[in-house]
Amino acid sequence: MALHQICKISDIGEGQCKTFTVDSKQIAVYNAGGQWCATENTCLHKGGSLGSGKLEGNIITCPLHGWQYDVTSGQCQNNPEAKVGTYKVQVEGDQVSLEI
Ligand code: FES
Repeated sequence: MALHQICKISDIGEGQCKTFTVDSKQIAVYNAGGQWCATENTCLHKGGSLGSGKLEGNIITCPLHGWQYDVTSGQCQNNPEAKVGTYKVQVEGDQVSLEI
């Protein structure tokens, strides 16, 4: 497990998200009302980019066909069998880092 510095807190405003590539993994990072979360970026339906989706509260909506995931757990709201992996986000001062 390593800590990867990815951005400053000012880079992702509240209610926004962004995709980063770390260790050749695509990871979506969310600022859900000041709570920082991260999941695998790839939607389990047909590969949409969750980091390009719309974040409302804790729920990210895939931009392709609208599957929704809870960003705190990775659980898909449309399909109980589908769950994306989650990562720990660490915020220290203005630095946001991912544990991978
Ligand atoms: S690819 Fe995400 S809902 Fe279809």
